[in-house]
Amino acid sequence: MEYKIAVISGDGIGPEIVREAKKVLDKIGELYGHTFHYTEVLMGGCSIDVHGVPLTEEALQTAKESDSVLLGAVGGNVGNSRWYDVAPNLRPEAGLLAIRKGLGLFANIRPAYLYKELAAACPLKEEIIGDGFDMVIMRELTGGLYFGERYTKEIDGVMTAVDTLTYNEKEIRRIAVKAFDIARKRKKRVISVDKANVLDSSRLWRKVVEEVAKNYPEVELSHMLVDNCAMQLVMNPAQFDVVLTENMFGDILSDEASMITGSIGMLPSASLNEGKFGLYEPSHGSAPDIAGKDIANPIATILSAAMMLRYSFDLDEEAAAIEKAVEKVLSMGIRTVDIMAEGCRQVGTTEMGTAICEILVQNK
Ligand code: IPM
Ligand code: MG
Repeated sequence: MEYKIAVISGDGIGPEIVREAKKVLDKIGELYGHTFHYTEVLMGGCSIDVHGVPLTEEALQTAKESDSVLLGAVGGNVGNSRWYDVAPNLRPEAGLLAIRKGLGLFANIRPAYLYKELAAACPLKEEIIGDGFDMVIMRELTGGLYFGERYTKEIDGVMTAVDTLTYNEKEIRRIAVKAFDIARKRKKRVISVDKANVLDSSRLWRKVVEEVAKNYPEVELSHMLVDNCAMQLVMNPAQFDVVLTENMFGDILSDEASMITGSIGMLPSASLNEGKFGLYEPSHGSAPDIAGKDIANPIATILSAAMMLRYSFDLDEEAAAIEKAVEKVLSMGIRTVDIMAEGCRQVGTTEMGTAICEILVQNK
């Protein structure tokens, strides 16, 4: 089959990690008989440098005309005045919010699991880690506080800032459906996270999630308040399977969940629309301090490409081949510096990509 992929290399380490993910995709293409056509699209700081805005209409259009989008990372040091001494809607990160909205990517899937080989990097105590954990954060991505009306103005002589948290039942229902669909293929447990003891939007969230749950009798639903969830994540992470939550809570909790895996350089993510279209990116940022040094870990981006094969192209076998190759590379003790441990062999970004490609060939 042939697939059109819009590629947003972005800023910082983006170009190097995306290069390795493309290398792995091309190897998959060669081994399994697919062709991936890439179109480079500018977004973030690199788009500001060329066009003065973080995302152009044309760039969005190119993404829309593709079968999926592969993204590295956007943004840089806030000290970079060219990118940050401008209105908030012109900064690199605004490109990310705009493309999510523009492509209707309301469902953000962020897996967080502990690799046995990397358990030593987990900051939790051994008795809490137990047999490890494997959860998926399902974050609503195009509603809530990040997209509500906002302004700052003087009211009665006092500077006042307003951000609005709005959800309608349709927005809640569609993300809940995705969460239950995924839970059905996993351990069949959804924990819906809200702040229903205070917020109206959370009370509607809870009501709609309960309605959706009725269509999934095999999936167990429970509710958790967000403050408690933040605590439970570091107290008993194994209790979580699918965590369903709104935009800002998901933003915060997914960072916490990724931190306890001890290896944020390993975690992929997918943002999906109503259908098969998705944008795939590592969960980590652009790490400008290590950009261009060939030391960044490309695995999160490579695993994001695997998620693309699975969720957008239905290429489950090919996706599993990549995931197995990553496990193998770890068990062989091949490590980038962020996950380096005693007795292992340290490699750079390029060599990690090459090692994964070699394993793909051997395993075929
Ligand atoms: C993320 C990031 C973004 C978000 C920022 C950069 C706008 O933190 O993808 O989690 O909050 O969604
Ligand atoms: Mg975030």
